[in-house]
Amino acid sequence: MGINFDMGFATAATQIEGGDADTIWHRWADAGGAADNSTPRRAGDHWNRVESDVDLLRGMGVTIHRMGLEWARIEPRQGFFDTSAIQHYRHELTLLRDAGITPLITLHHFNDPVWFSDLGGFRGKLAHEHFGRYVTHVVQELGDLVDEWVTINEPNVFAYLGYFTAEWPPVQHSIVAYLSVMRGMIRAHRHAYTLIHRLQPHAKVGVAHHLREFLPARRRNPLDWAIARGARLLFQDWVVRATSRTRRGPWADFFGVNYYTTMRMGIGQDEVPGGAPVNNLGWEIYPEGLKRVIERYAERCPGPVFVTENGTADADDAFRCRLIAEHLDALGRTDADIERYYHWTFIDNWEWAEGEDPRFGVIALNYETQERTRRPSADFYADIIANKAITPDARKRWVDPQTYPTAPKRN
Ligand code: BGC
Repeated sequence: MGINFDMGFATAATQIEGGDADTIWHRWADAGGAADNSTPRRAGDHWNRVESDVDLLRGMGVTIHRMGLEWARIEPRQGFFDTSAIQHYRHELTLLRDAGITPLITLHHFNDPVWFSDLGGFRGKLAHEHFGRYVTHVVQELGDLVDEWVTINEPNVFAYLGYFTAEWPPVQHSIVAYLSVMRGMIRAHRHAYTLIHRLQPHAKVGVAHHLREFLPARRRNPLDWAIARGARLLFQDWVVRATSRTRRGPWADFFGVNYYTTMRMGIGQDEVPGGAPVNNLGWEIYPEGLKRVIERYAERCPGPVFVTENGTADADDAFRCRLIAEHLDALGRTDADIERYYHWTFIDNWEWAEGEDPRFGVIALNYETQERTRRPSADFYADIIANKAITPDARKRWVDPQTYPTAPKRN
């Protein structure tokens, strides 16, 4: 199967940069929030290693790269912009461009500066204006080096875990908060979309949506179907609609899809079926779902599809090649216009509330020494890029020997 889209990796500032920033995640993790008590202060120390990290990317032959900016570094206090942070990101973007890699920037990836959060975060009355001021500054300062932007990463996940289940900062726990922060992010996205296009008419702007394939736990149970549908509507349908094509305009130039797993829904049934393939975090592996979510929304969403994230937690690199192959195969079966595939991720990342334990990288990170070591999946990924295909030899070498762990069977 030939692959006719660009391939690269996706990252997020808080998850790899390390160092200090006055963000809600730094504060929450300092107070012992993460499962292993780690904080984003260590992470991959990418802030001090951009040169060698870009070399690693270049070594795998990628042509595209999705990176995040830390808003709190750029605007540490309301209305005060730090020129050294901008200089740093200019340096990183220049390195990428010199390596022939086209950058896509994420402006907000799950993390608020504390000052913004204190004003209510995206629930605040003027949130869109605060966000817009930051976005305008960034586009003015970096716009000669980049013209592709994800405004907000996974609004639904940020709202759900931070404002409904309270598992994440800012630890709020109400359906009203969930809905109002979602509304605030949609408004902020639209505002940013308009502002960016004013400064860069040719820019490509969109949201990276977290999409799951919701399935009924019992295939013949109408109630389970209804629950699956309801969950899908509440969790993802409306935010996709509100940030794509509406009566008042297209709000995206590409359809950004982050896809990891499926959900089995039903009364008392929302568990991974026994025997189903799962990753190290117990998430069900369901490659067909990637094709299905793209097809479900692609028509409503103008522009090409960017798979802005797809990947897995696999500490032993025991099944990552198989997972990559099966998701790329699923993309090969769609008629949708797939333009990009960004694998999550290149070096192991600080995984939010899960801390340092889950291993999502094709390159292993030793957090103590900061040593980076290519896993076999890095070679496989580079081979796909070089051949613009998964060759029969590559399948034989990297994919065929691998099997997935499975969920325990229950009685
Ligand atoms: C997020 C990433 C995260 C990844 C793996 C996505 O939902 O955008 O920040 O690391 O999933 O959990």
